[in-house]
Amino acid sequence: MGGRASPFQSGEKHTVRTKTDSVALIACLALAMGVVSTMTFCGRAGAGRPWMNRSLSAEQRANLLLHAMTLNDEIALVHGVSRKAHPFEGYAGFVPANPRLGIPALKEADGRAGVGNGAKDVTLLPAPLCASASWDTALMNEYGSVLGEEEWGKGTNVFLGPTIDIVRVPEWGRAFETYGEDPYLNGQMAAAEIKGVQSQGPIANANMYLTMNQETNRFRQNTVVDERTLQEIYLPPFQAAIQRGQVGTFMCAYVKANGIPSCENPELLTTFLRKELGFEGWVLSDWGATHSTVASAKAGLDQEMPTGRYYGQSLKAAVQDGGVSQATLNELDRRILVTMFRHGLFDKHQPGNWNTDVGSREHALFSSKAAEEGAVLLKDEDHILPLAGIRSIAVIGADGGAKPLAEGGGSSYVVAPYVVSPVEGIRNRAGKNVRVTYADGSDLAQAAKLARAASVAIVFADSWETEGADRPNLNLPRNQNQLVSIVARTNSHTVVVLNTGGAVLMPWINEVRGIVEAWYPGQEDGNTIAAILFGDVDPAGKLPLTFPRTESAVPTGTPEQWPGGTQTPHGFHVIPIHPSRMSGVEGTSVYSEKLDVGYRWYDASQVHPLFPFGYGLSYTTFKLSHLQVTPTKLDTAAGLLTQDVNVQVVVTNTGRRAGAEVVQAYVKQPAENGEPPRQLCAFAKVFLNPGQTSPVTLILRPRSFSIYDTAARQWRSPAGTYQVLVGTSSALRDLPLRNNLAVVSQ
Ligand code: BGC
Repeated sequence: MGGRASPFQSGEKHTVRTKTDSVALIACLALAMGVVSTMTFCGRAGAGRPWMNRSLSAEQRANLLLHAMTLNDEIALVHGVSRKAHPFEGYAGFVPANPRLGIPALKEADGRAGVGNGAKDVTLLPAPLCASASWDTALMNEYGSVLGEEEWGKGTNVFLGPTIDIVRVPEWGRAFETYGEDPYLNGQMAAAEIKGVQSQGPIANANMYLTMNQETNRFRQNTVVDERTLQEIYLPPFQAAIQRGQVGTFMCAYVKANGIPSCENPELLTTFLRKELGFEGWVLSDWGATHSTVASAKAGLDQEMPTGRYYGQSLKAAVQDGGVSQATLNELDRRILVTMFRHGLFDKHQPGNWNTDVGSREHALFSSKAAEEGAVLLKDEDHILPLAGIRSIAVIGADGGAKPLAEGGGSSYVVAPYVVSPVEGIRNRAGKNVRVTYADGSDLAQAAKLARAASVAIVFADSWETEGADRPNLNLPRNQNQLVSIVARTNSHTVVVLNTGGAVLMPWINEVRGIVEAWYPGQEDGNTIAAILFGDVDPAGKLPLTFPRTESAVPTGTPEQWPGGTQTPHGFHVIPIHPSRMSGVEGTSVYSEKLDVGYRWYDASQVHPLFPFGYGLSYTTFKLSHLQVTPTKLDTAAGLLTQDVNVQVVVTNTGRRAGAEVVQAYVKQPAENGEPPRQLCAFAKVFLNPGQTSPVTLILRPRSFSIYDTAARQWRSPAGTYQVLVGTSSALRDLPLRNNLAVVSQ
């Protein structure tokens, strides 16, 4: 052991040294046998830390370290600590370092649109839903890099994001944190963001697993979901996070799935996650989502957060009395250690701490670029936008003034260094020759007066979303609907800019000329909006979720589906929607819409939404032509296709400005397959100058022509005629190019 005096005073000392000695011996033997090759290895083993040999694999290093760990060491790694017991910087969760073994502390911090948990001197990016509305995976990758760089700069090594659940319920309070309502879109965005985050150092976290689709009663809610729906709708984004994003950690959710809490659910944590999807990282629980010791450990929960209520003394006792085997505990630790080694946590120097200033000019510029790319132009009657040749603008609405709604609330909340208000951004951009007036809209008569006197009225309307509460309905809150109507009545050139975290109803849609959905745009809010309104940039976003026409015509329109409730002898008792944390009753949400989530439901029910999934206008125009699908015949003899399908199409910018179009490919399956009418299977964003033409190639994976067979517990591609539809939104009228494809069994 190199003669180094042990600094440790505890009674564990003797055991540890003995274990480490034997590990070093085995390691040196391995070296001698040619299993490992670094010459410094025995020297380092001699120093007592053979696992620090970087030429070994993560698994080898984890095993060496595991052998050196005592029961106490192993227990300490599988749970966080309270601030009171062990003060730590601002991170949401903390697992102390083990100095004797050289295990670094785990510093787990929130961050969906920037470093969270009250951190200062960071960048507030637009909400993830806004970035997802860009339909630009390269942009989402950069979004992840910016986030990852700032988190790493703050000392974070486990980044508690992204949130990749499907927006099943339009009122969901965390819709803004996620990517939208489609499994494929969410999966692509998740993989892109995770790769970006992890490229900068922190280990990303796929959360919240699984069926975390509403805030109401989230601590006590059960979700009832059939297996095919789980496999086809809710699991694919998580699968992409693993297989394309190589995500290092998962967060199990507060809710129960089919009666069993997510964090002690063997089907979720072992069958799906490890056996079927091949996840090799570690699962940590959402804050307070662990409810047991033995059941959780056996199911495959690796780490309890934020403290050790079940994974501290209780787990130690369970291991000692045999309720949890030593082998099971070893597995939990091994998965944590392997991931830490893989991501370089033992090897990289991380100089920053919670007080490091990580914001930068580059990141502010990126924040604005992402907000511009995610803004969706929903209506532009008579080309009211971009604004041109105007003499005065009335900016109206509280959201247009000093405190605009630039982000959502909850654990993703970011302390913005500044937020540029819309009126400020518009004033700066408009210049001296345009008079810009402002009214907050609380006095309707004053707002109308101002609007009447201006060439154009721009109403800023917002809707607040936060973790912990669903929106009670889809209306704009306060007097905002009335405000829009009154302004529109006095000025026929009225444009509405929405700052919402999801879909809202627009009873005034026919009264206004223009609508821009700007989501929660981040710290550059006003500058971004001004750039879009004045046409410095093309609003190039597309809706990542459907905007319904009415409150009731939505996929989750019955109380049994959302917010759910309990069956009592006196009938069905509906869970009160607000405030969610207060509900003390067990409730159930039934996913009876099955596969018909989001646009799938509107298409299957032939309900016309206000704006379909995938929709968004541009200041220029595009033409899609020359669809080619190759091959057009596929053999499914083995049950499941293995071959990709190439979809080629030509896109032309037919307008007079540069702009971007998102080419979307949907697949319609044969009726016997029992699938929704059509589903997004590929997309690509193209940026084109006026008159420019470009070929676009999309790849359809075998999954696009498959269903999940519950009896066989596997994916299968039934024979039949499939149709590939290509266009610019999920609505049939926007999918002009169609080709058939035959799947045959020879
Ligand atoms: C949220 C998580 C978050 C955690 C730590 C929980 O309430 O659901 O998303 O990471 O708190 O702040």
